[in-house]
Amino acid sequence: MESLPDTPLLEMRSVSKIYGGGFLQKAGKVALKDFSLTLPMNKPRIVALAGESGSGKTTAARLALGLLEPTSGQILYKGVDLHRISRREALVFRREVQAIFQDPYEVYNPVYKVDHVFNVLVSRFRLAPDRAAARPLIADALRVVGLDADEVLGKYPHQLSGGQRQRIMVARAFLLKPRLIIADEPVSMVDASLRAAILSIMLKLKEEFGISFLYITHDLSTAYQYSDEIYILNRGEVVESGDSQAVIDNPTHPYTQLLIRSIPIPDPDLKWEGKLEIELENVPE
Ligand SMILES: Nc1ncnc2c1ncn2[C@@H]1O[C@H](COP(=O)(O)OP(=O)(O)OP(=O)(O)O)[C@@H](O)[C@H]1O
Ligand SMILES: [Mg+2]
Repeated sequence: MESLPDTPLLEMRSVSKIYGGGFLQKAGKVALKDFSLTLPMNKPRIVALAGESGSGKTTAARLALGLLEPTSGQILYKGVDLHRISRREALVFRREVQAIFQDPYEVYNPVYKVDHVFNVLVSRFRLAPDRAAARPLIADALRVVGLDADEVLGKYPHQLSGGQRQRIMVARAFLLKPRLIIADEPVSMVDASLRAAILSIMLKLKEEFGISFLYITHDLSTAYQYSDEIYILNRGEVVESGDSQAVIDNPTHPYTQLLIRSIPIPDPDLKWEGKLEIELENVPE
């Protein structure tokens, strides 16, 4: 895909999505309304999309992945409208924009060893001429997420922990050297003790490999800790957005203030790493 120097990587322009409805039917469900978001081409960003259940987060993710068609508005990847994309450009898009979902178990086929999720990509995108040549690529991707190929390959999904299965999903996305990973509640099914480890991989992929993320979560504290920018969604509408620090320090919308108040304050005897501990002292009661 050729593009002008300041073309964004991803641009969602006033995108709305209404489910159902139509001629002679009752009004459809407005899941997302006038949603706009821009990810720059050459400055990797982690953008968090936060909001409570039903606020439209997954709808926004599926639109950005080209899995849903907007009712109105446009979605452009490297300046090309996803719904006017050529087959060749679509292949580039499919490679450069990856997804990680909430429940990695759904992505695995239980009858196949976990190797299968990698092998499928290797052949679809012709990453290597044969299995033997693919192995070091897969091992490398596993190493980036802190896993050892000898330990996890050859196993069935149920023989791994939830945290390992989700790390493998990150490795699978990384294998394609994507520009953008859309992660929809990637750690909400993972044990709390492993969440930080997995989210730190997201930071590492951004910093070392220039990968941007759309990090979808209902958890404002991790959105704050890991993202550069936050968009707060309420009933399909962005009520507040901007620099993560600014949004959390100075929430202007009552809904954001409510979400911030509902962040569980950690046990004062526990040591929190990072900026969260300090900043929570400033959260209004
Ligand atoms: N396929 C669909 N058909 C009709 N309505 C839908 C469909 N998918 C989602 N919705 C509705 O659209 C709204 C937004 O749903 P969405 O899944 O985007 O929310 P979400 O923020 O991801 O919620 P959660 O945190 O529970 O995952 C909800 O009211 C939901 O019921
Ligand atoms: Mg969702």
